[in-house]
Amino acid sequence: MDKPRVFVTRRIPEEGIAVLERMAEVTIWTDELPPPHEILLREVMRSDGLLCMLTDKIDIDVMDAGPNLKVISNYAVGVDNIDVQAATDRGIAVGNTPGVLTETTADLAFALLLATARRIVEADKYLRACGWRAWGPTLFLGQDAHNATLGIVGMGRIGREMARRAKGFSMPILYTNPSPSPEVEEEFGAKRVSLDDLLRQSDFVSIHTPLTPETRHLISEREFDLMKPTAILINTARGPIVDQKALYQALSNGKIAGAGLDVFEEEPVDCGDPLLALDNVVAVPHIGSASVATRTKMAVMAAENIIAGLKSEPLPHPVNTVSIPGGTK
Ligand code: DGY
Repeated sequence: MDKPRVFVTRRIPEEGIAVLERMAEVTIWTDELPPPHEILLREVMRSDGLLCMLTDKIDIDVMDAGPNLKVISNYAVGVDNIDVQAATDRGIAVGNTPGVLTETTADLAFALLLATARRIVEADKYLRACGWRAWGPTLFLGQDAHNATLGIVGMGRIGREMARRAKGFSMPILYTNPSPSPEVEEEFGAKRVSLDDLLRQSDFVSIHTPLTPETRHLISEREFDLMKPTAILINTARGPIVDQKALYQALSNGKIAGAGLDVFEEEPVDCGDPLLALDNVVAVPHIGSASVATRTKMAVMAAENIIAGLKSEPLPHPVNTVSIPGGTK
């Protein structure tokens, strides 16, 4: 019997490919850029499984191109690039890679918080440009992270790990979440407040909510107006949660003091975007989960989802539940 076919839309760590190759014939798109839409359609047409990235838009067209497509596994925890409802309607199982990237992403969020507060990137550039002439009493004054109030928007797994890191810096923690989180309240002394109160009271605001129609532009002009002029915004979640034009205005008009960004409304962000010309912005190219260990674990998890889907078994890391004759997959 022919092996099932799997299309992988980018090179992922070998460990994941090895899992796939145990049972499938694997085609990998090896280009640095994502496969163009027509290539995606062509490959899906002959695939049983699709291991995709957050850069691939997996919509109805893609799903309908694959008569045998049984499983889609996203190499990410966020699945806003996939029309999950359409997949469910078509009996296609969808999986992701939750949990494994939680701490790595929280590490990056905290790194951005410190880098922005202490002006690390600006100071590094200044030094390398041979600008440093003497120690200076007012050279690169920044803001303290310790004892400053951190507002966490979205107390899911990554939000909780952000709280753990903040606790080590003696930061009082405020948070928003659809439901209270008694464990974080107990463990980190965090207090659940409204978004407006969080924005008014926080020295640092860190976004950890998924992108949904409700959270698109959750932080826009009105919200920046509420924030302290000394506040710093950190976003390692999804770019469109923050209205980027409003962010630029807020930063350039002194409504807030800085921003540490891993994600952007359009990715890759245009190199000429005015945001990138601001010294009070630290920007990195969506590398929240980019550690060797985490990306390797993600590859294995994503591959295990595919294998389970090909066998019509429940995915180990499911996003949806779909019925198949004889059970769920
Ligand atoms: C995710 O998993 O959603 C991250 O943004 C990429 O690792």
